[in-house]
Amino acid sequence: MQIAERLAKIPPYLFMELRKKINKAKADGIDVISLAIGDPVEATPDSIIDELSATARNPLNHRYPTDEEKGMLLYRKEIAAWYKARYGVNLNPEKEILGLIGSKEGCHHFILACVNPGDIVLMTDPGYPAYRASILMGEGVPYNVPILPENNYLPVFEDIPADVVKKARAMFLNYPNNPTGACATREFLNKLVAFGRESGIAICYDNPYSEILFNGQPRISFLMAPGAKDIGIELTSLSKPFNMCGWRLGVACGNPDLIAAISKVKENTDSGIFNPIQYAGIKALRSESPFIEKMLAIYGKRREMVLTTLKKIGIDFNPPCGTFYLWVPVPKGMTSLEFTNRLFDKTAVVVASGTAYGKYGEGFVRLSLTVPDERLKEALQRIEKEFTR
Ligand SMILES: Cc1ncc(COP(=O)(O)O)c(C=O)c1O
Repeated sequence: MQIAERLAKIPPYLFMELRKKINKAKADGIDVISLAIGDPVEATPDSIIDELSATARNPLNHRYPTDEEKGMLLYRKEIAAWYKARYGVNLNPEKEILGLIGSKEGCHHFILACVNPGDIVLMTDPGYPAYRASILMGEGVPYNVPILPENNYLPVFEDIPADVVKKARAMFLNYPNNPTGACATREFLNKLVAFGRESGIAICYDNPYSEILFNGQPRISFLMAPGAKDIGIELTSLSKPFNMCGWRLGVACGNPDLIAAISKVKENTDSGIFNPIQYAGIKALRSESPFIEKMLAIYGKRREMVLTTLKKIGIDFNPPCGTFYLWVPVPKGMTSLEFTNRLFDKTAVVVASGTAYGKYGEGFVRLSLTVPDERLKEALQRIEKEFTR
């Protein structure tokens, strides 16, 4: 049986590999603590679960959602209200909003919608590994744009070679940024729109951490930048703000031509989102902002716990204020992988090596704050013991 060549180009998915390693250690009786994956452990709020249960009882919701493959109009209107209230951005729910089965799916279908085989697609390095996989599955050619600490982890458009820009058709960006935690500024978004306009490159601004911000960092959307809708889309997700990673619910908003093209891909692929999940999403958007505040307080406390321990072992740095990740510089004289391996072998604490996000991730590891307080405390005690000997 033949397996398509395009799949051979795709490296194994980072978290699948990590999971295998963790499961093996657990099977050997080791008490592993994983700080590697960004998947909140606290439950989805009850009101959201109740809405799902109630609407799942209605047989009308058991049928294909063919009338509303773009997502229920009710859901799209709620997203429009959210954008208006959160960012002051006006969106037409009919043409500028498309329901997604999570933003990861949106990344993949964005490529199928606007990239021809052989087209260059820009992505940041370090960057979310699924972008590369989506580009390769769409038979595009990934081009890594470095994002460096000295530039606040933002790309410098002038440094991208002119011949690359000429051949590029699309670009992925993501702020608040996984893995670095960096946030974009309004000034940067204006530059991004100017770059998109001049180059004709379609922008996919992936914003699933839009709500996960600390120390008064302002919440911003790509669509706040004048002209953004002319050149791209923004992906938003309910996974991270409402602890709904497993529910698979997101949205693409922005340029109507791109929305129509992605919608065409989806109509022929997945036939839409289960209605009760959308009703539950509406409930979340309408009434669960206090839950986000509660989770931010929890993550904020964990952030401080980690920073305090790291300082004790000589890792003292000023982290950016977005996402529930910390992008931690490794001790001098070690590579990312050496530090990751030492942590795993000596303390059974798992972190993600920075190099898993691209070569410019060397010198860093990513820690996630989505573990219970007690487990985090235990992990930090083990780390402190190992590195203060
Ligand atoms: C940058 C980025 N984009 C997209 C996703 C996927 O989110 P969703 O659950 O909405 O598919 C993640 C998940 O970790 C992410 O880090």
